Amino acid sequence: MERMMGLLLAAAFSAALFTRTAGASTVVTAIYAFGDSSTDVGNNNFLPGNQAKANFPPNGIDFPRSRPTGRFTNGYNWVDFVAKKLKFKKSPPAYLSVSNDAQAYRSVNFASGGSGIFDAANFTISLNQQIKYFKGITHRLRTRIGGGAADRFLSKSLFLVSTGGNDIVGYYANFGLKNETQNEAFIGQLTGQFRNQLETLYDLGARKFAVLGTTVIGCIPSLRLRFGGGKCVEEINNLSRQFNKATQIVLRDLASTLKGFSYSFINTYDFISLVFSKPLNYGFTDIVSACCGSGRLNAESECRSNSTYCSSRSKYFYWDLNHPSQAGYKLIALAAYRGRRYASPVTIKQLVGL
Ligand SMILES: *[C@@H]1O[C@H](CO)[C@@H](O)[C@H](O)[C@H]1NC(C)=O
Ligand SMILES: *[C@@H]1O[C@H](CO)[C@@H](O)[C@H](O)[C@H]1NC(C)=O
Ligand SMILES: *[C@@H]1O[C@H](CO)[C@@H](O)[C@H](O)[C@H]1NC(C)=O
Ligand SMILES: *[C@@H]1O[C@H](CO)[C@@H](O)[C@H](O)[C@H]1NC(C)=O
Repeated sequence: MERMMGLLLAAAFSAALFTRTAGASTVVTAIYAFGDSSTDVGNNNFLPGNQAKANFPPNGIDFPRSRPTGRFTNGYNWVDFVAKKLKFKKSPPAYLSVSNDAQAYRSVNFASGGSGIFDAANFTISLNQQIKYFKGITHRLRTRIGGGAADRFLSKSLFLVSTGGNDIVGYYANFGLKNETQNEAFIGQLTGQFRNQLETLYDLGARKFAVLGTTVIGCIPSLRLRFGGGKCVEEINNLSRQFNKATQIVLRDLASTLKGFSYSFINTYDFISLVFSKPLNYGFTDIVSACCGSGRLNAESECRSNSTYCSSRSKYFYWDLNHPSQAGYKLIALAAYRGRRYASPVTIKQLVGL
């Protein structure tokens, strides 16, 4: 149903299919992106209901022609900047916006705002469902160009994944403070499921993974307000650190057991902590409140069509109560692409052989 709707709408607007700049330096055959609102470029526009949507102004106000695309920010997000660094002419389009399945295999973004590793929220496209959509694409690719060629194509493709934040916030918000034993059990289940999902992608042909760790999510404006009395929520930040630690162990283990599996883990937690410790060095005058919203920290309501928003948007780390601004995403993308201290064991640039 959702897919049908996506196809119909996409056919109506059509034409905007991505193309890639040809050239000797383009070693990445395709980019496939998975994850949550940090990565969504418009899939949620095609879902029923009003939850987890950003396809109205002032979202996108700094996008070309101030277009609200469904990205949860004022302009581009991290995937857009990574695609640009890799010399892709356009960012991989939202899966539900692509009118012809055969086009999707050339690069596509499955991410959906509100989704997580677990299938908790039914108003989004879960990571499991995103992977099922990708599976369909690989089947068509194999039919079209043959198994061997498909394997070679996919082995040179880049898989971007940014997830886990919604699972952590959901756990904390729904169950309150737990003891360390329970936290560890939760992180173990979460990263166990994540491991299965990464293995599934590997089985489908994925080889090069760039995984964005969860950031200092306890400091996002909505959680500061809801749980921290205005301060960062240390329990949530601790869970985020635990998730990152366990995820790195999973990735290391997959790389040592699965032939050809390689990865870049981007420690956005450490990187953003650094940015927050010296915000002015990175051009930010406000790292606490949202640019768009209302009330305390501009985080008492979501960013709506009638919300007020700041004029110096590049000086705010947060665009709305839950999401970074374009300026924030750009920094994250640069750290991922070539920030050797924060991307390990290699940067995305190194991962793709540039
Ligand atoms: C989503 O879950 C809620 C609560 O569990 C349920 O009431 C609702 O019908 C579900 N919606 C869909 C589309 O499955
Ligand atoms: C943690 O909480 C669980 C469930 O309430 C309990 O069974 C367990 O003994 C607690 N562990 C510690 C170390 O307090
Ligand atoms: C967070 O983790 C640190 C150690 O990593 C611990 O000392 C501290 O008590 C934790 N804080 C909370 C609020 O859980
Ligand atoms: C903005 O619109 C929402 C409904 O979408 C409404 O609840 C709110 O009161 C409006 N705010 C202002 C400042 O008009």
